[in-house]
Amino acid sequence: MTQVLCVAGARPNFMKIAPVMAALAETGIGAQLLHTGQHYDAAMSDSFFADLGIPPPDHHLEVGSGSHAVQTAEVMKRFEPVLESVQPRAVLVVGDVNSTLACALVAAKRGVCVIHVEAGLRSYDRSMPEEINRVLTDQISDLLFTTEKSALANLVREGVDPARVEFVGNVMIDTLYRNLARAVPAAQTLGAVLPQYAVLTLHRPSNVDDPDTLAALLDVVGEINRSLPVVLPLHPRTRANIEKFGFTARLAGLHLLPPVGYLEMLGLMRDARLVLTDSGGIQEETTALGVPCLTLRENTERPVTLTEGTNTLVGPDPAAIRAAFAEVMAGGGKAGRIPEFWDGRAAMRIAHAIKGWLPAQKGRRVA
Ligand code: UD1
Repeated sequence: MTQVLCVAGARPNFMKIAPVMAALAETGIGAQLLHTGQHYDAAMSDSFFADLGIPPPDHHLEVGSGSHAVQTAEVMKRFEPVLESVQPRAVLVVGDVNSTLACALVAAKRGVCVIHVEAGLRSYDRSMPEEINRVLTDQISDLLFTTEKSALANLVREGVDPARVEFVGNVMIDTLYRNLARAVPAAQTLGAVLPQYAVLTLHRPSNVDDPDTLAALLDVVGEINRSLPVVLPLHPRTRANIEKFGFTARLAGLHLLPPVGYLEMLGLMRDARLVLTDSGGIQEETTALGVPCLTLRENTERPVTLTEGTNTLVGPDPAAIRAAFAEVMAGGGKAGRIPEFWDGRAAMRIAHAIKGWLPAQKGRRVA
């Protein structure tokens, strides 16, 4: 019997759902996996299933790309009949992508319990689509699992009953520890030995959708590249915008890669002198790896990476990036320590909590 229907849709979901599926199976909780198809390229999706040993999805919605409204609406329309036929006791969603909110909303309206893994993170920046997804998903979730302690205060501020919240640690870091020994060495991914290099990832709309911001970022990256080679696996959104704005020449000299698989990215980060990023997850992965991270955003929803980890918030301003880069090169960057419960056992804590919680959930199905 399927008790929990788990949802994954976009690249940052896959490394979170992998250990959750494994822990649910180990705990004897009947689970199925649904892929919304928000990310659909082999490089953005399939390779993660293969590398992380995620079972093939039981359901695939194949929604693909679209505006936020179209993508969210398509997931909702296609998810509802699956939910009706599977009839799970709960729907489990992870992270903050459009698929997360879309499936949570359908489940809540059908009276099916919602479990949110990675709840309570807040950037307090409502211009980020992910922030809207986080706030709304948490409001309609019945059981909320958090990765860091700051999340509970955020949830309580928004009126969430703390009895529904459990601090379990970070499932993405479960995946990292489980796969570190299999990480592909950077030299293999790069096809060359670079004694020292930086890895850059860039895809947030706030950094790559505005031509002036993107031009300034690429220019300062070009400068950095002259003293420390910069490796850039290019997200499809960023590549498309670079072409659209006519910025291809600004990439000259960088070590460009297509979007890389999980094990390649893990190796690239582990062996890097530093990482520059606007990703959420990479701020956490670099903290777990002890590699300095400069975050090219004004804010972060993951403050423990700043207070305990290796992360420094730099923003998109070239002067600030230049200064932070010089500091890392001179001083080696933040050493950091591993935050509480980022110990490889978060998914097992989740599975045990669900096992204790599920039987008490009365069906509250609505028409
Ligand atoms: C989404 C998530 C973001 C996450 C990011 C990681 C939301 C709101 N955003 O943003 O939180 O950090 O994924 O990648 O859910 N595309 C492809 N191939 C794919 C997937 C997308 O070419 O497999 C293209 C799309 O056509 C689109 C662009 O990439 O033009 C952006 O994809 P989309 O899923 O809309 O948002 P992301 O920017 O990837």
